[in-house]
Amino acid sequence: MVSRTFRTRAMAATVAALALGLAACGSSGSGDSSTDAASGGGDSGDLITVGFSQVGAESGWRAANTKSIQDTLTKDNGFDLKFSDAQQKQENQIQAIRSYIAQGVDYIAFSPVVESGWDAVLEEAKQANIPVILTDRAVDSEDTSLYKTFIGSDFVEEGKRIGEWVSDNLGTEPINVVELQGTTGSAPAIDRKQGFEDATKGNPNVKIIASQTGNFTRAEGKTVMEGFLQAYPDIDVVYAHNDDMGLGAIEAIEAAGKVPGKDIKIVSIDGVKDGMTALSEGKINYIVECNPLLGPDLADIIKTLQSGGTVEPRIVTHDDAFDQAAATAALPTRQY
Ligand code: AHR
Repeated sequence: MVSRTFRTRAMAATVAALALGLAACGSSGSGDSSTDAASGGGDSGDLITVGFSQVGAESGWRAANTKSIQDTLTKDNGFDLKFSDAQQKQENQIQAIRSYIAQGVDYIAFSPVVESGWDAVLEEAKQANIPVILTDRAVDSEDTSLYKTFIGSDFVEEGKRIGEWVSDNLGTEPINVVELQGTTGSAPAIDRKQGFEDATKGNPNVKIIASQTGNFTRAEGKTVMEGFLQAYPDIDVVYAHNDDMGLGAIEAIEAAGKVPGKDIKIVSIDGVKDGMTALSEGKINYIVECNPLLGPDLADIIKTLQSGGTVEPRIVTHDDAFDQAAATAALPTRQY
């Protein structure tokens, strides 16, 4: 398993690490070096073929992430992108990766729907000399040589920032928190839960009274919240692992005749336009961003590897955080 220690250590390798990789690219020149990419079939001057297996289309965040990748890995930018949507099913991702291996793509990139169960297919890619890049979500493989790098947010930190805000701003008196978890077994669900619990464990006022998955979707977030409202008459705060589930919770709270953001506070993660709009309208109280715009960094990583450069094993992207005033200020120029 990729230990939390590894992740913490790796956090030091921020975007600056990518710059280092690019520096290596610049110094190695024309791409003559014998790299995995070269042996995977990428000839200098040709388009670089990339097979990308996306989790699905479960959220506004995912839509923005897909758009960023498709808008960046274009033929004009030197890529031939093969894209597949796994509809949140691991078996579909494994099948897509095997198909990319069979096609002999130059690189495989994917955002793993869950953390476990990837070793066999990643080993197959390694045997085929096809470098793999993890985007957005981690795998728990012990053998980190199965992939070149993992680029994405620090999910533990995101949950921690939410927990700190709740503890500091709402936890000055006893509060009951219900948690809408992301997809069971996924890195963001595991890490965001852990981060929140770590940040609030020293505050006896903050109590998680119920926790259930809403699978990162608005519809399931709403259904789970309806159940919470029936079972628990005294909910003070909803902690949603993403904006979409928070938006579903808003619908359930309003349908129950309560005022989201006032009667029941909502905190969530992502910072997509719909979430930021609800935040600026006072229906959500605080959002920690998760940056979905990974396309340009993914393109840089691939070009660096293609040129014989190296990249750091963990590249952590930058995330902001927004209260209601900050959301109102940010919305006019928000890209997603
Ligand atoms: O892995 C990132 C998470 O996946 C986003 O926070 C969520 O919206 C998406 O479904």
